[in-house]
Amino acid sequence: MAITSRTIRIGEQSYPYSFGEDCLAEIAEGIAGMAADKLVFVTDDQVLSLYRTVIERLAGDTPSLTLTHRAGESMKTLACLSDHMEKALRSGMTRRSVVVAFGGGVPGNLAGLMANLLFRGVRLVHVPTTTIAAMDSVLSLKQAINSPVGKNHIGTYYAPTAVYADVRLFETLPEAELRSGFCEMAKNCLAIRPAAVAPLRAIIASGSLATPKALTWLLDASIDAKSSVTQDDTFERGTGLVLEYGHTAGHAIEICDHRVRGAAGITHGGAIAVGMLVAAHISHARGWLSDDEVSVHYDIVAGLGVEPWLPSTVRVADVLGVVEQDNKKGYLDARPGSVPFVLLRSLGRPAMTGTLPLVQVSVPEIREALEVIAQPSPAAPAVGIH
Ligand SMILES: NC(=O)c1ccc[n+]([C@@H]2O[C@H](COP(=O)([O-])OP(=O)(O)OC[C@H]3O[C@@H](n4cnc5c(N)ncnc54)[C@H](O)[C@@H]3O)[C@@H](O)[C@H]2O)c1
Repeated sequence: MAITSRTIRIGEQSYPYSFGEDCLAEIAEGIAGMAADKLVFVTDDQVLSLYRTVIERLAGDTPSLTLTHRAGESMKTLACLSDHMEKALRSGMTRRSVVVAFGGGVPGNLAGLMANLLFRGVRLVHVPTTTIAAMDSVLSLKQAINSPVGKNHIGTYYAPTAVYADVRLFETLPEAELRSGFCEMAKNCLAIRPAAVAPLRAIIASGSLATPKALTWLLDASIDAKSSVTQDDTFERGTGLVLEYGHTAGHAIEICDHRVRGAAGITHGGAIAVGMLVAAHISHARGWLSDDEVSVHYDIVAGLGVEPWLPSTVRVADVLGVVEQDNKKGYLDARPGSVPFVLLRSLGRPAMTGTLPLVQVSVPEIREALEVIAQPSPAAPAVGIH
């Protein structure tokens, strides 16, 4: 099938993002056209067990090395990065070699850092295999790994030479992972591209989210939404902060739930979806979002298979404790008892403080919104997975 190519512009950087259905031959051709002396694939054990032959096909006749590790966030460490770089260098990698991230956001971040550090920068290609990676992380220059102290503490900004996605690769994703990426995409529609809300709701209503046609539309819409706020904001510290919609409460909910349920807890996307409900209730209480606009949030969150309330493992007081440590605090003047939030005045229109899409929200306002979603409402649809 034909491959669609879009140009992603982020500040001064730009790169092609080519995607389609059953387009592995075109992807292999694109990689071969880079005339690398070696391809260094970065993946994880789970992806490798599913796609070893696809990686071999993408390598073609170019000498290659495949670096892998146990799947999951535990791979994003300095030790793993260092081990990968040493293996790449010992294998004879040069400045003409290309690092190819083949997997989700975790191998993508590791590969991004590797490509940036080795020889002070070699070419990087992303072949995302999760919806989070395809619809979110490869549309950003942020590359980071975790420190023993916290998430994404060690990082940089680095642009790929190209991104290639074949939506068929998402077919093997567990449903929760598939939907996690859709939640980030839905966030972008609500906060940035309200024109995409109606088509998204139509796709949700048709129950055909995971079809190649729907996935291709979702990818295209994600590119539109995310690029529109990052094209003039390389570092995502200005207009790009709107991408944090749902993240302040969502990230706190994710942390609290994972303290109890570990990796079996709510997905990142699911937590962001519930975080958007918190933000929507705060905006509604301020008289900004209408009843209908809050309902649209609920329809989309529930339609994406996320239970629209706090997981039963999570207490309001614990969420508040984490929210108060949120890393967006440095963006606005410190105000005791308040936390900067992305709130919407209407769909697609964030509330601003100066040039930043952030406003101070008091702890009692956050508590009130959390209490609204703390218990399953009898009217809420009984759907979903956490
Ligand atoms: N750079 C950014 O701006 C940015 C944005 C969003 C997320 N991220 C990062 O991305 C990570 C989350 O991404 P993720 O959810 O893709 O994580 P991930 O890479 O760990 O993938 C999630 C799981 O899906 C499996 N998997 C991947 N592709 C598969 C496939 N096609 N079929 C079956 N299983 C498959 C993996 O083995 C893994 O177990 C986080 O570390 C986050 O910090 C970065």
